[in-house]
Amino acid sequence: MTDPAAALAPFAPVDRGVDEPDPARAPLRAAGPVVRVEAPAGGSVWIVTDEAVARAALVDPRITKDPAWAPPAWDPPVAGLEPPAAAVPSLTTLDGPAHAALRQAHAPLFTARRLRAHYGFMTELAIGMLSAVAGEDPVDLAADFTARYPVAVLLELLGIPADRVDDALGACRAMFTGPEGPGRAMATFADLAAAGLTDGRSGFAAELRDRVPAEITRDQLHYLLFGLIFPGQITTDPALGFVLADVLDDGRADADLDDLVRETLRHHPPAPLTLWRFTVEEVELAGVRLPPRAPVLVDILGTGTDPHRETGPDLTFGAGPHYCLGAQLASLELRAVAEVVRTEFPYARLAVPRAALRQVSHGGIGGSRLAALPVVLGRRKT
Ligand code: HEM
Repeated sequence: MTDPAAALAPFAPVDRGVDEPDPARAPLRAAGPVVRVEAPAGGSVWIVTDEAVARAALVDPRITKDPAWAPPAWDPPVAGLEPPAAAVPSLTTLDGPAHAALRQAHAPLFTARRLRAHYGFMTELAIGMLSAVAGEDPVDLAADFTARYPVAVLLELLGIPADRVDDALGACRAMFTGPEGPGRAMATFADLAAAGLTDGRSGFAAELRDRVPAEITRDQLHYLLFGLIFPGQITTDPALGFVLADVLDDGRADADLDDLVRETLRHHPPAPLTLWRFTVEEVELAGVRLPPRAPVLVDILGTGTDPHRETGPDLTFGAGPHYCLGAQLASLELRAVAEVVRTEFPYARLAVPRAALRQVSHGGIGGSRLAALPVVLGRRKT
């Protein structure tokens, strides 16, 4: 029997107004707590649309992150899969004790207390970058600023020289360009990691080298550092665009900035779906039977925007053992930029009506970003 939900399209490319809801989410929720749809790489994927079921799935040991369990017919580049954990260990592909050991190595670097010590740097960086483009003419903050700022913060934290920001940003962008882009990008990421690990440099890269389990090789360490720069850029870039659009929304001039950041992320989660997971055996979720090797995703956007959801923590940063390592970092970056715009550029305003702002994506499991964010970054009233 054909599942009526198979026609739903949570992976379709996006091109719609900033405040237009995703048309796929309400029908997906209406179709049930666990819904089978067509996967971009072929075959089926089961999408969890109910937050309680999602929280259970995200801690279920029968549902693995290891791409070795992906449907054999999937083409890894088409599916956007990382190498299997046995080939290249990473936080996003390991589970259980091996994941916990690696996570423990990273954890002390990414605590709120540790990162708050860098809030001054984040603020000064935002002031410097925004002052450089401020003036009475509109500037598109989504063209460069939102993409570059998170890279500059990450390189500073990791101890990678600041003159490598262009290389790092270029590598993040190359991950989405043509069949050769990702290979080129990975070589650049390895080179950037090596720069942070050069003798005498201090920063999170060197600290991580000293903290990871002894069996992690130098190449594997490079991959772990890639696994901080790339996810940190592709998520915080779009988030900054949406947060800035909301900070500059007249209706939100008095909003508490932490609330504003949280709400913006809930309506525009940079990861609208989790990363891929796969069942290692037959699993029943909310009465739905999933076969072994079934791909599973959680609908972060759909659960966060469910009109019936109760207030409280959402799934913007995931849940369970794979909860976002960079959640505190991203929140601080977003807060720093929002605060700088409010305090240093009190007359900043959108250069177009808010309704003209469009969000776009290539489709797949990735999120959308603003196509453009034209802003007049005035320090004086005009
Ligand atoms: C607003 C910005 C961000 C959002 C919304 C976000 C969202 C997420 C989500 C939903 C997950 C869980 C995926 C899953 O369970 O399948 C995740 C994991 C992860 N994120 Fe973020 N992220 C953000 C920023 C960052 C930053 C700045 C970093 C840089 C350190 C980062 C590094 C990671 C890593 C390493 C993981 C994997 C953790 C693990 O599997 O143990 N993220 N993120």
